[in-house]
Amino acid sequence: MAKESSNGEQHTTRPPPTPSPLRFSKFFQANLRILVTGGAGFIGSHLVDKLMENEKHEVIVVDNYFTGSKDNLKKWIGHPRFELIRHGKLVILESGL
Ligand SMILES: NC(=O)c1ccc[n+]([C@@H]2O[C@H](COP(=O)([O-])OP(=O)(O)OC[C@H]3O[C@@H](n4cnc5c(N)ncnc54)[C@H](O)[C@@H]3O)[C@@H](O)[C@H]2O)c1
Repeated sequence: MAKESSNGEQHTTRPPPTPSPLRFSKFFQANLRILVTGGAGFIGSHLVDKLMENEKHEVIVVDNYFTGSKDNLKKWIGHPRFELIRHGKLVILESGL
């Protein structure tokens, strides 16, 4: 879509972005318990914010605070769907293989 501004220049206006198809996926609809490692860091804490927006999700963060900080998650500490664990090593045990 092209528009002409007061100084005679042509500007194109983009339509607003459509919501991600993920928003309508099973992942967003489901009742999930999600483990975020490094969740007290820059990317992790933003991911936690997004995940916590979904009221069906329960989010568990494991972080050793090596570079991250509890401050990045302070708005979620004490929330019933949120748990923060200070730990540096994780061993994932898988069964049924
Ligand atoms: N304001 C800003 O623009 C800003 C702020 C911070 C970082 N950054 C940049 O963003 C980029 C990505 O940041 P990021 O989120 O990947 O890094 P990050 O360091 O912020 O996050 C990594 C997280 O993993 C944790 N961690 C590391 N090893 C661990 C272990 N063995 N066990 C448990 N937890 C562990 C750290 O404590 C930290 O919380 C970096 O390049 C950084 O420079 C930008």
